[in-house]
Amino acid sequence: MIGRLNHVAIAVPDLKAAAALYRDTLGARVSAPQPLAEHGVTTVFVDLANTRIELLHPLGAQSPISRFLERHPTGGVHHVCYEVEDILAARDQLTAQGARVLGDGEPRTGAHGKPVLFLHPADFCGTLVELEQA
Ligand code: CO
Repeated sequence: MIGRLNHVAIAVPDLKAAAALYRDTLGARVSAPQPLAEHGVTTVFVDLANTRIELLHPLGAQSPISRFLERHPTGGVHHVCYEVEDILAARDQLTAQGARVLGDGEPRTGAHGKPVLFLHPADFCGTLVELEQA
């Protein structure tokens, strides 16, 4: 069902420092910060040859990243995103097997303008999993 790894998202307490770390220390290509108000995050995209890293920083008071950073003050891996061909078919197949989809279960438009869903971390080895229709 799942295809390529689309991205790994890392929550960071200092977006400028994290972008500099990836650009200057690790020598990667990083984007300018992109505010995504509807997702409550500001993101810096790190382009790698085979995937992307997304550095996430809270935007606004209700950001889900704020709560994550309270528990992980130095930052940490927030989620992994796998591509699927058909997000509704993937959702139906997974929920039929007992997996829980977060929210109302309907896909939303993700950071890349494509439909996404999040799966409950307790059902996937303690990892928040995002599915994106590629
Ligand atoms: Co993501």
